[in-house]
Amino acid sequence: MIELRFANNDLIPTMGIGTWLSKPNEVYNAIITAIKAGYRHIDCAYIYKNEKEIGEALQFAFINGLVKREELFITSKLWNNSHEKAQIEPAIKQTLNDLQLDYLDLYLMHWPIAFKREFEQVKSIENLASLQDIPLEETWLGMAELKKNGLTKHIGVSNFSQKKLQHLIDTTQIVPENNQIEIHPYFQQKKMRGYCKQNNIVVTAYSPLGSRHLTKSENGISENLIIRNMAERYNCTPAQLILAWGMAQGISVIPKSTNTDRINENYNAVNVHLRPEDIDAINMVDENNRQSKGLFAVLPDGYYSYANIWDEDPFVLLKK
Ligand code: A2P
Repeated sequence: MIELRFANNDLIPTMGIGTWLSKPNEVYNAIITAIKAGYRHIDCAYIYKNEKEIGEALQFAFINGLVKREELFITSKLWNNSHEKAQIEPAIKQTLNDLQLDYLDLYLMHWPIAFKREFEQVKSIENLASLQDIPLEETWLGMAELKKNGLTKHIGVSNFSQKKLQHLIDTTQIVPENNQIEIHPYFQQKKMRGYCKQNNIVVTAYSPLGSRHLTKSENGISENLIIRNMAERYNCTPAQLILAWGMAQGISVIPKSTNTDRINENYNAVNVHLRPEDIDAINMVDENNRQSKGLFAVLPDGYYSYANIWDEDPFVLLKK
């Protein structure tokens, strides 16, 4: 199994299984199938609303000797309505309780967006909290306490821009160990990856197959002729080729699937080794096409906009 190294030399398996949109009644089998296939990295989040079922599957795996706890790398994420200092420890404890674990390997701040405590989803601007009310660095210091207390071995963030990562580092001197962001051949994030490498931040790619929309649409990455023809040459599927490209970038990939064949197919991408010229050819298909934009928090007259979530001109996307 290929692994990446955190700043302190601990390892994170490059290939992981994602669980966003894995239905509670399907995720139990998916996790057991994944562990049997060889996955040792499982990506979860409180807001995916399936951590209880994942916990039951993990118990089954431990009791039946499929794997030991210490052989697994398990990530979860702090949801947006638990950014206040007093909410952070109860939030991880809830997740640990649901997953039936004593500790996480990695706990991430899910978004650089805060909601008021009572609201898991926002419908109006009154449900939002601003980053002036609950600054990201306060949440981050709260997460650092979790690491000190042994509730998680590593801490990081998700959906953070370079500017926001640097802000956390400047204000707290605690470098996030991981940034989990959307990366696939149509949204390659080369600058961000360069910054993370310089700062010893491991990068994890969510939606590594090009996100649900792109995988399923006619314009999906797997329909791209360069990808299709290359996959044929490597005698692998387009999905395996795309995941092999991700891993060749020195990042971890967490494709979601609840389908037994696709769980196995994706895992076997670890056996696809691309030649440098083929990696270069895939590097050329980038379209700077962000799919996951955080628009759930963008409300008229609210605190959040595309520009201030990503610290990026929204028109760059339109200008393509
Ligand atoms: P399914 O669970 O039915 O396999 P994400 O981009 O969030 O990781 O989601 C991946 C999406 O692509 C899911 O909808 C998943 O659906 C589907 N998928 C996962 N693996 C493959 C594959 N090897 N080929 C095609 N579609 C896939």
